[in-house]
Amino acid sequence: MKDELIQHARQVLSDNDRGTYTVPTHGLYPFQWNWDSALSALGFAHFDEPRAWTEIETLMAHQWDDGMVPHIIFHQLDDGYFPGPEVWGTNRPVPTSGITQPPVAGFAVRRIHDRAFDKALAERHARELLPKIHEWHQWFYRCRDPQGTGLVALLHPWESGRDNSVDWDEAFERVPSEGVGSFTRRDTTHANPAHRPTNEQYKRYIWLVQKFRSLGWDNTLLHDASPFQVVDPGFNAILIRSCKDVADLAGRLGLTEIATQSRAMAEKGITAMESLWSDTLGQYQCYDRAAGNPVDSASIGGILAAFAPIPKARAAALTDRIETLAKACNYLVPSHDPTAPEFDGLRYWRGPVWLIVNYMIADGLERAGQSHMADRIRADSVQLIERSGFAEYHDPITAEPCGGAHFTWTAAMVIEIFSTCEVAA
Ligand code: DGY
Repeated sequence: MKDELIQHARQVLSDNDRGTYTVPTHGLYPFQWNWDSALSALGFAHFDEPRAWTEIETLMAHQWDDGMVPHIIFHQLDDGYFPGPEVWGTNRPVPTSGITQPPVAGFAVRRIHDRAFDKALAERHARELLPKIHEWHQWFYRCRDPQGTGLVALLHPWESGRDNSVDWDEAFERVPSEGVGSFTRRDTTHANPAHRPTNEQYKRYIWLVQKFRSLGWDNTLLHDASPFQVVDPGFNAILIRSCKDVADLAGRLGLTEIATQSRAMAEKGITAMESLWSDTLGQYQCYDRAAGNPVDSASIGGILAAFAPIPKARAAALTDRIETLAKACNYLVPSHDPTAPEFDGLRYWRGPVWLIVNYMIADGLERAGQSHMADRIRADSVQLIERSGFAEYHDPITAEPCGGAHFTWTAAMVIEIFSTCEVAA
């Protein structure tokens, strides 16, 4: 069974491979997405190391002059997706969106480098990529943390990667939905509308895009001008972990300045993360920077924090929290607490399980000595795929496959989990 699943996963990666980049899935997402790419590279690395490096090189080749790495690169025109390049209006040689996504590339580069068979190739690519990734990390702290708190804010829910999480509901109330003009969504022609964000949410997504476009996508202005500024523990954990991984690898390669600066950013971030801990929820929670208050929402962002080198006691508490969630569902880890009124097991980030997040949580818990829970999360992940295939996400109670099918990063995570851990299938 294990070999069959790995074979199938490789087929998914090959089918979605466009030569120098991979689409998340045919139809629903026909371009290159930022964190999809970095995580998919981990899967390629198990059978084609040069192709894995190409994936990340292509992503970083579209970095903006200010250091930002955009969330979508529109390599080819495809009117099956909305909002396309004409809505973003970023005036790039190859069109891109104007916002970013979870910076998981630093982590991916270190991991692929450290276990590479072709050491010379790995070192060459790491030397090429680390300075660029480091600039991106510096961009975050400069443009998304102008007060120097140690935590960066998201200016658009799409930046989190967890587009319609309950975490954004309250802050989203401050984003107008009037005046955006009419538009036609394309996602709901590829996926079941009951699995996707609502029309009301889409209007607000587009309002923010139009607002940022009206400011010329100038990142020295966007943070303070945005009515939506939310600090997400999961996003910050990914940034901190990537800074730490860049620091470690850069140090070994003799890139001393990058190493020193990256370590300082990671340490400041870890200290600041403490302010997001909630004793009431038993996990981390978001902070609404524009409103100046914590967000009372029991979502997976506060558990994904385990991906960063948080204190061991916090990792142990997150294991307890996941134990509690396990009592209310059949497959870990639900993206929202199944006992909360907003939970919806089918709708994108309001309940379903996502393998990429499971992978990152398990990795962090393992490093913190919580191997038992890490194993359990990986075992649930594999069971979901055995039962329901390589879907974008799955219902944590029924295992129903949701969103897009034949999904690249889901397949990459299956290869990654089987190749690096003992999991029965
Ligand atoms: C989408 O289109 O659903 C994406 O998540 C936005 O990047």
